[in-house]
Amino acid sequence: MKQNGLSHSHVSRRGLLKGAGTLAFGAATIAAGFGSLSAAFAKGGVNEKWPWPYEKLDPGKTAEIAYNEWYRVFCGGAVISSIFSQLGEKIGEPYKSFPIDAFVFLEGGIVGWGTVCGSNAGANIVSNVIIGPRIAGPGSEKGAVIGANIMKWYSETPLPYYTPKEPRIKTAIAKTTSDSPLCHVSVGKWMKASGFPIGSAERKDRCARVTASVAYKLVEDLNAWKDGKYEAKAEWGPVANFGITAQQNCTGCHGSGIPTAPMPAK
Ligand code: HEC
Repeated sequence: MKQNGLSHSHVSRRGLLKGAGTLAFGAATIAAGFGSLSAAFAKGGVNEKWPWPYEKLDPGKTAEIAYNEWYRVFCGGAVISSIFSQLGEKIGEPYKSFPIDAFVFLEGGIVGWGTVCGSNAGANIVSNVIIGPRIAGPGSEKGAVIGANIMKWYSETPLPYYTPKEPRIKTAIAKTTSDSPLCHVSVGKWMKASGFPIGSAERKDRCARVTASVAYKLVEDLNAWKDGKYEAKAEWGPVANFGITAQQNCTGCHGSGIPTAPMPAK
């Protein structure tokens, strides 16, 4: 079936994010879907002083910090820590006061519920603090695109992509493609491929390396953005095109019976 020229078959399986390039994407589309969010932001908050300044970082150094920080504050906290700790040293406030450790709750796809992988959540927190929300005005949608791009990259890339200089675990760590930004799916597919259970040292080190991989990719994107060279890759408008928030590979969960949402009148 076709909706806005995009057939459901294009958003199936590995089609994750392929074929989405034709979708209209931008602040206008998003504002249409999240009118109330847009309005709430426009009013402003009492302590809303953002976005915050950014200076380019070294992706490899950032990945090393993230890898080690995973063993302290897990995936989401480690991505945030790897970048904000360095910006705290280079820039100072407001980074020095950011409560990094409070984001330990992102572990296990948010307190063990296996929803979005914490490293994706942490990356979106970082990119939005630095660039601003996707609804903030002309040009700023690139911030959201960096966050969305991480979700896309995470879903499509055999992970872990980054190997630490001195890994704590010396056995080979399998690389798996999740086709999903979700912790549950990502960890589950890796456990199936590797045979290691959730509590194993190997699974923990795998997640630490995935965290390092996301931090590495995020700094690459932020550096390109800082240089004015970032090119939006993730263009995905599920609300406008399907009437529901979603990751792109509908069939991964629904099989061939993808339900349709009530669409707003055009
Ligand atoms: C990560 C798994 C997952 C993915 C991917 C996913 N869905 Fe769903 N979706 C669900 C689950 C679970 C439900 C609720 C149970 C159900 O009804 O199947 C649901 C419910 C829905 C509903 C509400 C109506 C209903 O029958 O429950 C719609 C509409 C829908 N999905 C559309 C989509 C579309 C379109 C896509 C792709 C753009 C998509 N979904 C991708 C898991 C997923």
